[in-house]
Amino acid sequence: MSRKHESAGGHVSGRAVYTDEQHPPAGLLSLWPVQAPHAHARILSVDATAALAMPGVVRVLTAHDIPGENDTGPILHDEPLIAGERVQFYGQPVAWVVAADEAQARAAANLVKVNYEALPALLTLEQAIAAQSFHLPPAQVSRGDALTALELAPRRVCGEVSIGGQDHFYLETQASWVQIDAEGLVQIVASTQHPTETQIIVARVLGIAANRVVCRCLRMGGGFGGKETQANPFAAIAALAAWHTQQPVRIKLSRQLDMQLTGKRHPFLARYEVGFDSNGLLQALSVKIYADGGWSADLSPPVLMRAMVHIDNAYFCPNVHIVGLIGKTHLASNTAFRGFGGPQGMLVGEEILARIAAELNLPADEVRERNFYRTDGDGSCNFTPYGQPVVDNHLAELWQQLKASSEFDARRQAVARHNAAHAHSKRGIAITPVKFGISFNKTEYNQAGALVHIYTDGSIQLNHGGTEMGQGLHTKMLAVASRVLGVDVARIRVMATSTDKVPNTSATAASSGSDLNGQAVKAACETLLARLRPVAASMLGGAAEQVCFTDDAVFLHGGGRRLAFGDVVHAAYNARISLSATGYYRTPGLSWDPKQGRGHPFYYYAYGAAVAEVEVCGFSGVHQLRRVDLLHDVGESLAEDIDRGQVEGGFVQGLGWLTCEELRWNAAGRLLTDAPSTYKIPTLGEVPRDFRVALFRRSQEPSTDVIFGSKGVGEPPLMLALSVREALREAVAAFAAANVAVQLASPATPEAIFQAIEQARQSAVQPAAAALDLAD
Ligand code: MTE
Ligand code: MOS
Repeated sequence: MSRKHESAGGHVSGRAVYTDEQHPPAGLLSLWPVQAPHAHARILSVDATAALAMPGVVRVLTAHDIPGENDTGPILHDEPLIAGERVQFYGQPVAWVVAADEAQARAAANLVKVNYEALPALLTLEQAIAAQSFHLPPAQVSRGDALTALELAPRRVCGEVSIGGQDHFYLETQASWVQIDAEGLVQIVASTQHPTETQIIVARVLGIAANRVVCRCLRMGGGFGGKETQANPFAAIAALAAWHTQQPVRIKLSRQLDMQLTGKRHPFLARYEVGFDSNGLLQALSVKIYADGGWSADLSPPVLMRAMVHIDNAYFCPNVHIVGLIGKTHLASNTAFRGFGGPQGMLVGEEILARIAAELNLPADEVRERNFYRTDGDGSCNFTPYGQPVVDNHLAELWQQLKASSEFDARRQAVARHNAAHAHSKRGIAITPVKFGISFNKTEYNQAGALVHIYTDGSIQLNHGGTEMGQGLHTKMLAVASRVLGVDVARIRVMATSTDKVPNTSATAASSGSDLNGQAVKAACETLLARLRPVAASMLGGAAEQVCFTDDAVFLHGGGRRLAFGDVVHAAYNARISLSATGYYRTPGLSWDPKQGRGHPFYYYAYGAAVAEVEVCGFSGVHQLRRVDLLHDVGESLAEDIDRGQVEGGFVQGLGWLTCEELRWNAAGRLLTDAPSTYKIPTLGEVPRDFRVALFRRSQEPSTDVIFGSKGVGEPPLMLALSVREALREAVAAFAAANVAVQLASPATPEAIFQAIEQARQSAVQPAAAALDLAD
C-alpha cells in the first residue's frame, strides 16, 4: 500500500511542530552548561558568584542542587547528571546556568570558576584494553568446541579489525521543555524515543513518584537511537531547573554541544581466528570483540550483545566462541545507533568471509553463498550459535533474484575488463546479505499498549506507546486503525505520545515500533468493533457476525442498507456503550538468557541483500559509487513509500558510517569533529549515481503472526551498506599484482583506501610475507 507520511506536508512546509517550536509560555528560561576542560579530573571547587551577578541569570545548578539521585543511568546507576566529584569526559557539565535566554546563560557559564586536579585519562579503546578498564565482566556466546575445531580445520587464519563510531546527526538536536504546573506536576515535552524512561529518570533525579511526571513527545527530527536514553539527561536538567526556579525551562542543544555531550555509535575492535575447509566452508570461529563504551555503561551491554549475535549474519558456523567486553574510556558515553551493535558485528562477519575468499582465491560472493544458513526439504533448518532456528529463511531466493536483476555476473566481467585496461583506476563489485534479528534482546521490552477514543461525532483519537522520529510509525498506526475500523484515515488523529495515555512503554527502537504498537492498536480497535457490531446489527436488522465496517460505512455482509460510521457511534453512545478502549500486546515465544548468551531472542529475521559497484582512484584513494542495487524484504508493507524511504535512508546512513564519517579527538580527549564542517555526513554527492531499490515479494507466508504481514524495516537496511565496503575491498585488491587479503580500515575514507592500496601493492610483491603479517 502506498501512503504518504502523515506529516509530509508539515515537514516540507516547516509547519510540523517540534519540541522547541511550541508557543513559548511566559517566563521561559534557558540553560547552558559549564564544561570541564579535562577528560578526567577531580573537581576541587565550583564558584558561581561572578556568573550569578550577570544579567538575566536566575540560578546556577550544581550536583548539590539535586533533590533525588544524581544519576541518569538506564541500566547501571553510574551516570551523574551533573559531575560532582569527578569529571569523566572532556566537556562534561559540572554546572548549568539558568538564565532568561540562552545567550545570557552562555555568557555567564564562562564566568563560573572551577578548580580541577587533572588525572590520567584513557582516550582510546586500545588504551582501555591495555589498562584492563572494562565496565562489566565479559559476555559470551558459544556453541560446540571452537578451539578443538580450529585445531582440526584444514585452513586457519586470524586477523583484527577496528571499526569507527558515528555521530547520529539527527537534524533536531536534543531538546526538552519542562514546566511544573500549578498542581506541582512535572510536565515534560521532550524529543525522546523513550518517554517512559524519561519520566522515570526525571522522577529519580527529583526524588518524586513517577505519577507526578508526565512526558510527552510531539515528534522528533530524527533519533536514530541517539534519543533512546540520551534524551533523558537533558529532560532531567531542564526539570531540575524548573523545579528550583518554578518557571518553565527549555533546553535545545547547539549542534556543537550535542556532538560533544552525547554518545555515538560504539567504535569496536575485533580479533578473530577462523577455521575453514578448502571450499571456504566455515568450521570454527573464535572472536574476541571489544566495544568502546565511553565513560558510563548506558546501553553498552545490550549493544555489545547484539553485535555478538550478529557476527554470524547469514552464515552457519558449527563451532563458535565469541567473547565480548566493554571498554571504559574517558569519552562521551556511546549509545544506541541504528542497528544497535548489529552493524559492527556484521562488519566483522563480512570481513572474515572476505578474508576466507582471499585466502582461497575464490570469488567472495560464492564463499558467502556457500555458507548461508540452510533450510532442508523437510523444513528443518540451521540454528544460530545462540540456539535460535533460522526459520522463514528466503535469503537464497532473494540473493538469486538480486544477482539476476543487478546483472551481477556480466558486470563483474565488465569490472575485470576495466581493471585490466586501467592501471590507476580500479573498479570493484560486491554482493552482501543481511539477516537481522527483530525484537529487543531483553524479552521484557517486547510489549506495547494503545488507547483509542471514539467521540460522539465519529472522530477518533489514536494513542499508542511509540514515538515518531521520521520513520513513519504514526502513518503506519493510522493505516492499522483505519483498516481495522474500516474508516477513512481522515477521521483519525494520532496524538502526541504521552506517558499519561499509554504508560510503561518501551523505547521506540529495535525496529519493532510498528510490530509492537501495531498489534496493540489493532487489539484496541478490535475491542471497539466488538462493541459497535451488535449496535449496528440491531440497526440493520441482522446478526452481529454479518456486520461489515468498510470504506467508512457499516452494512450487512452481502450489501443492503449502508449506515454512516458516525450514526453507529452515536447509537452506541445512546445505548451507553463505552467508546474508549485500550489495547495490549506482547510478542509470543521469546526467551533470552543474557548470562549464557542463549535463547530465542528474535521473533523473526529481516532479510535483504545489496550489490554495490565502486570505482577507486589509485592516486587519491577517492572513490565513486557507480551503482547500487538493493533488494529488501519488508513483508506486506503497511506503507510502501515509507518503507522504501527507510531502505534508501538506512543504506545511505550506513554508507556514511563506512566511508566518510570519521570521529577524531585531540590528545586531551576533546572531540575535534564537532561540527558539520569537520564531520562529513553523506550528502547527495555520496548517494549512488544509479540507485535501484526494490522490495522483495516473498512467495511464502511467514510462520509468525506479524501485523498485517509487515516486517520491521527501521534498522536492517543500514547494513546493506556493507556491500560498499566489500566492493571497495575488491577494487583495492585489483591494484595488487597477485591475489591479496586487503586490510581496509573503517571508515574507508580516501586516506584509508589510499593506505590499503599502498599495502596491497606492496604485499602483492611478496604475497607469502603479507599472509604472515596478517596472521600474527
Ligand atoms: N528513520 C528516520 N527517518 N528517523 C529516525 O530517527 N531511526 C531508526 C529507524 N529509522 C530513524 C529512522 C532507528 S534507530 C530505529 S530503531 C527505527 O527507525 C525505530 O522505529 P520503528 O521501530 O518504528 O521502525
Ligand atoms: Mo534504534 S538504534 O533501535 O533506536
